[in-house]
Amino acid sequence: MEDLPQNLSPPPSSTPQLLDTSASGTRETKPTLPKSPFGRPSEGNGIGELLLIGSLIAAREYGSHVMTLEARVSNFIAQRLYEKYSFKSVGIRKAYYADNREDAVIMTTTPIDSEEYGRMFQGLQETWESRWGPMIIEN
Ligand SMILES: CC(C)(COP(=O)(O)OP(=O)(O)OC[C@H]1O[C@@H](n2cnc3c(N)ncnc32)[C@H](O)[C@@H]1OP(=O)(O)O)[C@@H](O)C(=O)NCCC(=O)NCCS
Repeated sequence: MEDLPQNLSPPPSSTPQLLDTSASGTRETKPTLPKSPFGRPSEGNGIGELLLIGSLIAAREYGSHVMTLEARVSNFIAQRLYEKYSFKSVGIRKAYYADNREDAVIMTTTPIDSEEYGRMFQGLQETWESRWGPMIIEN
């Protein structure tokens, strides 16, 4: 699965700086939150979280059991975002990044196909919407 099945629209008041994400894999889904096509990262405007929500929605619809990803060990902001969605650190990939040979932390969710996760995920989406506005998802 290379593209999300939904088009996600950010709230009108915010500027989308991360426009694309992908989820791949079978029962284990591995998304990527790429660098901005405009050459700068998202900056606390809810877009990074929206992209993660979209990846998780796609993974749950696809029937994935868990989602796994990597983040630079220095990327505390991304790790905080992932922890908010129940990703836990499960290991290290040594010298994973080619540019500076930085280690990656491997993070995996608790089961995303569980009722418990579904309730938590719904609550986080409602919190996102109360903060940033309606989450528009088009098929
Ligand atoms: C990581 C990234 C995608 C976060 O996106 P963002 O739009 O800035 O973040 P959001 O506004 O959606 O914030 C969502 C959560 O991220 C975390 N977060 C965001 N900014 C943070 C900061 N300055 N300090 C600590 N945590 C932060 C928090 O958990 C936050 O939830 P909260 O607001 O309830 O505390 C963004 O920083 C980015 O584009 N970074 C460069 C590319 C990158 O690192 N991609 C991920 C590769 S693994």
